[in-house]
Amino acid sequence: MNKFILISLSLLCIVANDLSYNQKMYWFEHQLVDHYDKLNKDVFHQRYWVVEENFIPETGVILFQICGEYTCPGIMEERLFIIQLAKEFNALIIILEHRYYGKSMPFGSESLRDENLKYLSTRQALDDLAYFQRFMVLNKKHGIKSQNPWIAIGGSYPGALAAWYRYQYPHLVIGALASSAVVESITDFKMFDTQIYLSALKSGSECASDIQNMNKYAEQQILNETTREQFKRSFGAEKLTDLEFLFFFADAQLLIIQYGGRTELCMQLEGKNIEDQIEYFRSVIEEDSYKEYGSYYLKNDEYDENNLSPSRQWMYQCCSELGWWQTSPLENTVRSSLIDLQFYRDFCNNIFGGIKPNIFPDDQLANARFGGNNLNIDNLIMTNGNEDPWKWSSVLVNQGSILAFEINCDNSGHCVELYTPKEEDCEQLKQVRIQIIQQFRQWIQNHYSSIQ
Ligand SMILES: *[C@@H]1O[C@H](CO)[C@@H](O)[C@H](O)[C@H]1NC(C)=O
Repeated sequence: MNKFILISLSLLCIVANDLSYNQKMYWFEHQLVDHYDKLNKDVFHQRYWVVEENFIPETGVILFQICGEYTCPGIMEERLFIIQLAKEFNALIIILEHRYYGKSMPFGSESLRDENLKYLSTRQALDDLAYFQRFMVLNKKHGIKSQNPWIAIGGSYPGALAAWYRYQYPHLVIGALASSAVVESITDFKMFDTQIYLSALKSGSECASDIQNMNKYAEQQILNETTREQFKRSFGAEKLTDLEFLFFFADAQLLIIQYGGRTELCMQLEGKNIEDQIEYFRSVIEEDSYKEYGSYYLKNDEYDENNLSPSRQWMYQCCSELGWWQTSPLENTVRSSLIDLQFYRDFCNNIFGGIKPNIFPDDQLANARFGGNNLNIDNLIMTNGNEDPWKWSSVLVNQGSILAFEINCDNSGHCVELYTPKEEDCEQLKQVRIQIIQQFRQWIQNHYSSIQ
């Protein structure tokens, strides 16, 4: 999920003039390291960004965008729907970097050491948001007035945080837009692979079998002692174990589809022989991305502020709390059938066994806290892209007071509606954006009329 950078290549980014923005970076210097030990007053510096040129404090709203498992860029260049929202509602945008990512390090350059990772959890991250928000309001930062309503926005894991934030702190946000929000923790996530197969089928059975055949081919190369090392090396990935390599190989294809690149990928594979398909695939894989799959690299606890895709922290979150292990469904599988739950157990134990032997998440605990995909809270919008495998851990149809949309255009992937609105977007996507704006307007009007 932390690969939003990968796909930016394949999306033409036409930024309309009226979606230009200026963002400024700031530090919040008072964030608590531990929200659960009231005697622990240690603080760390957390980064945040503000876009203030649209803000009218008398009538405006605060759009509180949540950053996730990556170095936060502030506004993401390809995702400017939020700028449209800010202009529509005279909003101040505030974006907070997630603890343990980018430069928001609770223990400085030692933050990634085993003994220092224990404060990396969704509960601590949610409390960061609340503690930060309260500080901004009480101290009237950036012209914020106490009557201004706040709306949380996030996509993917931060989408889940946005939903949970609304759930846990309904007094702090009048609503939330939770895009591709992975609210259900699933340990054995077979539907992920199945969805990739189904998404590929939209381009025809040939594409689906092309992708399956590439994974079978990779498996043969890896299981064969004569070809194993050479095949790994051709991807630069000789430090990955055999199964890690197959995990990496499958995921790199799946990410293309997850982020809406299905038709392009299928077109490129069509009519090529297997060697040429592999060669094409090799050429589009993000450089160094294999490192995110190798326990050799993930064990490295050195902090590197230039690492934009810091997977050690994310793997820790998955191994300790969140799960979502993408296993082979056997039938209609895309990835190698050797990628099963035991592989992931060993993977977690290899990397983080020093923190706790046999570390593995308890999805029941995670789902008990907020209800998983049975959560129920009002003023919550949940959106998903039809071809996005993550949608199976989200909410696809209205439930209780939740307004849900499954956007079913060609190549509708992860967080599809957050991207910069374009003339050529399909009608359904445009309609969903209009409905989001209408909902926000309603929430804001209700808020201001209730405090008059
Ligand atoms: C392993 O790969 C070599 C070289 O491509 C090939 O000649 C051999 O038949 C393969 N072995 C098996 C068991 O597939």
